Amino acid sequence: MELEGKAAIVTGASRRIGAAIAVGLGARGAAVVINYLKGEDEAEKVAARVEAAGGRALIHAADVRDRSAVKGMVDEAVSAFGGVDILINNARTPHPVRPILEIDWEKDMLSQMQIHLGGAFHCCQEAIPHMKRRGGGAIVNMLSISFRRGNYRSHSYGPAKAALRSFTMSLAAELGEFGIRVNSASPATTAPERVDDARRERLLAQTPLGRIAEPEDVADAVVYLCSDAARYVTGVDLQVSGGRDMTF
Ligand SMILES: NC(=O)c1ccc[n+]([C@@H]2O[C@H](COP(=O)([O-])OP(=O)(O)OC[C@H]3O[C@@H](n4cnc5c(N)ncnc54)[C@H](OP(=O)(O)O)[C@@H]3O)[C@@H](O)[C@H]2O)c1
Repeated sequence: MELEGKAAIVTGASRRIGAAIAVGLGARGAAVVINYLKGEDEAEKVAARVEAAGGRALIHAADVRDRSAVKGMVDEAVSAFGGVDILINNARTPHPVRPILEIDWEKDMLSQMQIHLGGAFHCCQEAIPHMKRRGGGAIVNMLSISFRRGNYRSHSYGPAKAALRSFTMSLAAELGEFGIRVNSASPATTAPERVDDARRERLLAQTPLGRIAEPEDVADAVVYLCSDAARYVTGVDLQVSGGRDMTF
């Protein structure tokens, strides 16, 4: 129970990778705020999994693009758990995969910036004062291996993740003196059930470890970044890709 006494917020934790991170943190003893937008029933199920794993949990609906909603979530974390030690910026909305001439600046480009960079910005600005008060903390921003490549017709997602990578490094540079570590994690395609046969064959050919990640594979890497085992690690982007980032 290496995270006993720590309080964590995981955005977009009602399913998949965020849910697995919440359960992974809870299994190490953390108290976890499970943030979601619409999926209350799903969030309740994740809370039950966190508690069954040995952690404490509360669910909180908040749109991470909305500063006052984020403030309400952080305030609730502080009043329920005494502070904030860990923040995982994980929430996302679907992005368009279309030719550049069919991409709209506001509806597509700015909306991806708002969820990825804006959501992380609001959560960080609200949570960092509490981390400073506790004498340290860990922030992990969820990226994707795809933002480093020319991802076909994915014009809005990659730039938003690239901006979040840059924000990760500028935060890491500023917050080290306060004992706050800031890292990012870049998964490859996760959740095998979502992948059709043709795509599976292509992905497996590009993946040295020979399988598509389960959410728990990603969650364990994120939990490592939050743990004392990563006490001298800040500013890195941990590729959680089975080696695919090298080969596609
Ligand atoms: N899955 C992959 O293959 C993969 C690969 C590379 C990187 N990633 C990254 O890993 C992270 C998790 O991906 P995922 O596929 O597990 O996510 P997902 O299944 O699409 O889930 C998205 C989560 O974000 C929440 N959400 C959506 N809009 C929100 C908002 N405005 N405010 C707060 N929460 C909001 C959703 O809540 P509701 O359900 O309540 O709406 C849900 O919990 C993302 O940052 C993604 O870019 C994923």
